[in-house]
Amino acid sequence: MTAPLHATPLDGRVALVTGGARGIGLAISRRLHALGASIVLADSGVSIAGDEPDPTVAQAAASELGARAQAFTDDIATAATAEAAVALAVARFGGIDLVVNNAAILRDAFIFKAQPAAWDAVLRTNLSAAFYVLAAATPRLREQAKAGRAPGRIVNITSSAGLYGNFAQAAYASAKAGLLGLTRVVAMDMGRSGVTCNAVAPFAATRVTEAIVPANGAQTEYKARALKVPPRYVADFVAFLCSAQAATVSGQVFGVRGREVFLFSQPRPRERVLLPEGGFDESEFSVLFTQRLAASFTGLETDLEAFNSDPVV
Ligand SMILES: NC(=O)c1ccc[n+]([C@@H]2O[C@H](COP(=O)([O-])OP(=O)(O)OC[C@H]3O[C@@H](n4cnc5c(N)ncnc54)[C@H](O)[C@@H]3O)[C@@H](O)[C@H]2O)c1
Repeated sequence: MTAPLHATPLDGRVALVTGGARGIGLAISRRLHALGASIVLADSGVSIAGDEPDPTVAQAAASELGARAQAFTDDIATAATAEAAVALAVARFGGIDLVVNNAAILRDAFIFKAQPAAWDAVLRTNLSAAFYVLAAATPRLREQAKAGRAPGRIVNITSSAGLYGNFAQAAYASAKAGLLGLTRVVAMDMGRSGVTCNAVAPFAATRVTEAIVPANGAQTEYKARALKVPPRYVADFVAFLCSAQAATVSGQVFGVRGREVFLFSQPRPRERVLLPEGGFDESEFSVLFTQRLAASFTGLETDLEAFNSDPVV
């Protein structure tokens, strides 16, 4: 069940949601808006691969929301357009409080067939755009906090693919893993202003889930299960992270799949071996290695395998 509207009021807050006019982004825009926030929906209306921009997608979503919603239809993945989107939020609604970096594209290819141009496009949209938006928004968030406005909230939409990896997703997984580093550093840099920054790996039925072409039985099963999960659960959780109640939650990586909310661990040393003084002998190292480290190696399961269980909705 969706939480009651009075639970996390965002009255007077101004949000920028990239990719906010479709799928998970649209669910987030709707939820933040329903809780009282004004929204800039920054969505160029591109295909899953990032082609064929269509400004009517964001315009339609903004008019559906009505008052307190504004479309921004340029490609968000440049420093200039990111600055323009943030400036639009400030000019139209008087500030910027909530930033949700959600826009992403997919151009999958096995690494041995991958094209540099596809890599560049995915990294630009899925990682650099988040940096550009934050580079534009965070100076304002700091100034506003200094002036006594309630501290802002940043949510970066990552993916379990960035944590586990998945076949043929070198660019996508690298960009999504990059967002985790960005999340940690922004949480640190903005902590003194009271601004939080967290990452959320969503699981939800969208046009992207529908487009999965299963390569085997397990993937067919995964797709059927994933299609059972509406994106509103992710939206509810993102809205919580944007609320005053989440003031002490920062630098964390969550997952949301229906009613399940996961807190992901973050890489830390889990074993330590000390090499002998004066360099090491390979056979000695091999013993240390197999005895002390190999038992703790992380398996090569994909994210689809790791989450191929029935979602709770
Ligand atoms: N659907 C899932 O289960 C799932 C799983 C893991 C991660 N994610 C992540 O969740 C987010 C939303 O995914 P979705 O399934 O709703 O995707 P979607 O393709 O339905 O929506 C993405 C939106 O982003 C917009 N967009 C893309 N590039 C843009 C750009 N350069 N400028 C402006 N807008 C741009 C598109 O027009 C689109 O409306 C993405 O970050 C995705 O990687 C989704």
